[in-house]
Amino acid sequence: MFSYFSDEEYQRVFNKFEDVRTKIALLFKERLSGGSQIVLDLLAGHGYLSAEVAKLCPSCTIHGTGLKSDLDCFIGLRSSNLYPSNTWDNIQYTECDVTELPFDDEYFDLTVNFLGLEDVLMTRGRSGLLAAISEVSRVVKRSGLVQISVVEYGDSPEERIAEEVWANIGLNAVYLPKEFYIDAFAEHGFRLIDEAVFEVRKKMTFEQASEELQFACEQAPIIFKEYDVTAISFDELMSRFGSQIKQHGMAYYPNTRALVFSSSIDSL
Ligand SMILES: C[S@@+](CC[C@H](N)C(=O)[O-])C[C@H]1O[C@@H](n2cnc3c(N)ncnc32)[C@H](O)[C@@H]1O
Repeated sequence: MFSYFSDEEYQRVFNKFEDVRTKIALLFKERLSGGSQIVLDLLAGHGYLSAEVAKLCPSCTIHGTGLKSDLDCFIGLRSSNLYPSNTWDNIQYTECDVTELPFDDEYFDLTVNFLGLEDVLMTRGRSGLLAAISEVSRVVKRSGLVQISVVEYGDSPEERIAEEVWANIGLNAVYLPKEFYIDAFAEHGFRLIDEAVFEVRKKMTFEQASEELQFACEQAPIIFKEYDVTAISFDELMSRFGSQIKQHGMAYYPNTRALVFSSSIDSL
């Protein structure tokens, strides 16, 4: 089922991401069309999902959120030619820790998210993750929607290897079972009203996975040093998993589950 990325595909895998971000934005096509809604891109990173929402809804105002270390990536993407320059007209980037969102109560009509909740677990732990969920619930209107993404792994060898590698690398950048997020939002009066799974059926070769994992082992502790993030050494990781990766390859975020929550009784 899984085929290997070519080296060319792998070079642009993060930016394209098999169109998963586009598919997430399209979940809200009807809600966004023609409106001037205020949208939170939770853990925006470079701002790719913000750009996908802006493409669908040029009259929406989109607030990307991320750490100081993300700002250069956002500026880099905004000044690249990947999106028409007017895509960025209504996108603002707010540097913040998502455990304390600098927005008023009930400010947003919609929250969208692609990846990043694993990073909150890494930087702020389980209590930080719960604080972020509490904050998202606070800043979204009672009539609004919250969408988050969790990554899941199936039973194929390349998926099991990926799950094991990320669980053992020491960063604690993992996803908890979806029930954790559903229960946490329920604490704030939000119910799950929809979900969708987006698959990536491509996997990394040994060389591609090595590049990805060396970066994670060596750079993540530097980028996130103020959060005391640590990882095991790349050599140790590869001595444990290298031969399995060589044999089967390693899946790349194989299943993204988008969970959509509402606190409105109208959505019942
Ligand atoms: C995987 S990236 C997000 C990817 C992005 N949504 C996209 O579509 O490409 C996760 C981001 O979360 C940021 N991050 C980690 N912990 C954070 C925190 N506590 N508050 C805000 N941002 C955080 C990291 O700097 C990282 O850029």
